Amino acid sequence: MLIMIKRLFPLLLAIVTVACKSPQLRPPAIGLIADSAMVVSAHPLASEVGARILKQGGNAVDAAVATQLVLAVVYPSAGNLGGGGFMVLRKHDGTLHSLDYREKAPELSYTDMYLDETGKVKRGLSEKGHLSSGVPGSVAGMFESHARHGFLSWKELVQPAVDLALAGFPVTPRQAHSLNDLQDTLRRYNTITPEFLLKEWHEGDTIVWEDLGHTLERIRDEGAAGFYRGKTADDIVAEMRRGNGLITHADLQAYQPVWRSPVTGTYKDFKVISMGPPSSGGIALLQLLSSVEKYPIQEWGHNAPKTVHLMTEAQRRVYADRAAWLGDPDFFKVPVSQMISKSYNESRMRSFDPRKATPSKVIREGDALKESHETTHLSVVDQYGNAVAVTTTLNDSYGSAVVVAGSGFFLNDEMDDFSIKPGEPNMYGVTGGEANKIEPNKRMLSSMTPTILERNGKLFMVLGTPGGSTIITSVFQTIVNVIEFEMHMQQAVNAKRIHSQWLPEVVFPESGALSNQDSLTLVSMGHRFDAEYWDGIGRVDAIRVLPDGRLEGGADPRGDDASAGW
Ligand code: DON
Repeated sequence: MLIMIKRLFPLLLAIVTVACKSPQLRPPAIGLIADSAMVVSAHPLASEVGARILKQGGNAVDAAVATQLVLAVVYPSAGNLGGGGFMVLRKHDGTLHSLDYREKAPELSYTDMYLDETGKVKRGLSEKGHLSSGVPGSVAGMFESHARHGFLSWKELVQPAVDLALAGFPVTPRQAHSLNDLQDTLRRYNTITPEFLLKEWHEGDTIVWEDLGHTLERIRDEGAAGFYRGKTADDIVAEMRRGNGLITHADLQAYQPVWRSPVTGTYKDFKVISMGPPSSGGIALLQLLSSVEKYPIQEWGHNAPKTVHLMTEAQRRVYADRAAWLGDPDFFKVPVSQMISKSYNESRMRSFDPRKATPSKVIREGDALKESHETTHLSVVDQYGNAVAVTTTLNDSYGSAVVVAGSGFFLNDEMDDFSIKPGEPNMYGVTGGEANKIEPNKRMLSSMTPTILERNGKLFMVLGTPGGSTIITSVFQTIVNVIEFEMHMQQAVNAKRIHSQWLPEVVFPESGALSNQDSLTLVSMGHRFDAEYWDGIGRVDAIRVLPDGRLEGGADPRGDDASAGW
């Protein structure tokens, strides 16, 4: 989850504020170490179930599926049945796979559906309520990944989520807070109010998801058909009719996940394997790594002004490309190989000036054609040497806020990830145009970046994070923290992050990421800080293979995230 706290202080005060260390955050510097197998996810109960599935002989795909299903119960702001996601898999034999189960625009959607007759954006319609939902892909994706690569029976993987939904589980302080914040939104956007969620929540209260438990039983007994057909599908369509949404039975029945080639590249002697379009994540990550590869950032230091300047300049160029060239590859020809080539990214960095910032208005997308704030991530390494990175989302917290009556799960608000009007920023401030316009059955562009690294042909690291457009820069910084600054996995996850993205032309540091002096140095180079700071960019959940073969978890202390292993 992207926790963005806006502080409306004047600029100087903001610079002073970002210099203060966050007092409550004293996370451990070394993460959980396990001999054989590990799961790191956004909730301790989900990580424990994943590790138990591995102990029972399941593989990384089995554990990833069981963990995702438990997250749909115990972490409902992002874990989901009503959203979509991506899985990147590296099998023990070195083969690479990625599964796209991103949501799709309903058949009845159209390019200008969020504009009024004068062409003005109708604010909010793509962000909350029934019209903001794409056709969910999560259940189809989990079912397909298990059918192709799982060991254990499907039923064994779904049962822990059924049990937790029906027996209930205690809410954490963070969850109590987030559910309390949700009360008015729930009342506003639901046609049939989910009464069981409406109350003042306290730490330790038990939350029982009766309808969701029965939906999970149907999924357990009937597989993907338990979601895309029968009662669950009827409930989704009835919900859409009541709330003027667009998803039909035909949309649900037609939904198919797609196996796609992961994008791969190198950073020094590491191989980087990540998600390709319709995510921008993998391409942008490879572009960022190539853009900074030749510079001595180890010598400059972590979050030092020179390092931050270089990364910000690389990010400016890469996010300008993202806005122009990235979209669903089934609808738009994305120039993948050109965008991730070393020579292209070197040429993009030719205008880099080590002394001053390049104004974003003079940066446009490169000629890539010519030469040729809710989500959750989990990382798994199993005892057989398989590795899985999954990022899955409802988009922002609790998605559309619509709970499907009778079936008990939240629907996504992923339609906001389309470019609803050329140049119009979405909720993460990213823009787009032709490549990412709304078209029926098209997948909206994502920033999700589930990623796996190899070194010398061996598994090295598994990672990813939520955070909207900050996902890419959080994954980028975590990789650089381990490779360049030789941090432990947990330290690399804990380290303060800094985000920027071409437009808006602003650098967003986490509280405590920059000293006063370093902030002023960056301002003197032409960088701008907004009169707000971000308290908690991303929630990176990662695993690193140590030189002796053991595993170190990095569970993000910004959330309730936890590592479990044995
Ligand atoms: O796919 C995407 O890029 C966004 N829907 C992800 C949203 C997200 O990470 C929100 N989490 N804080």
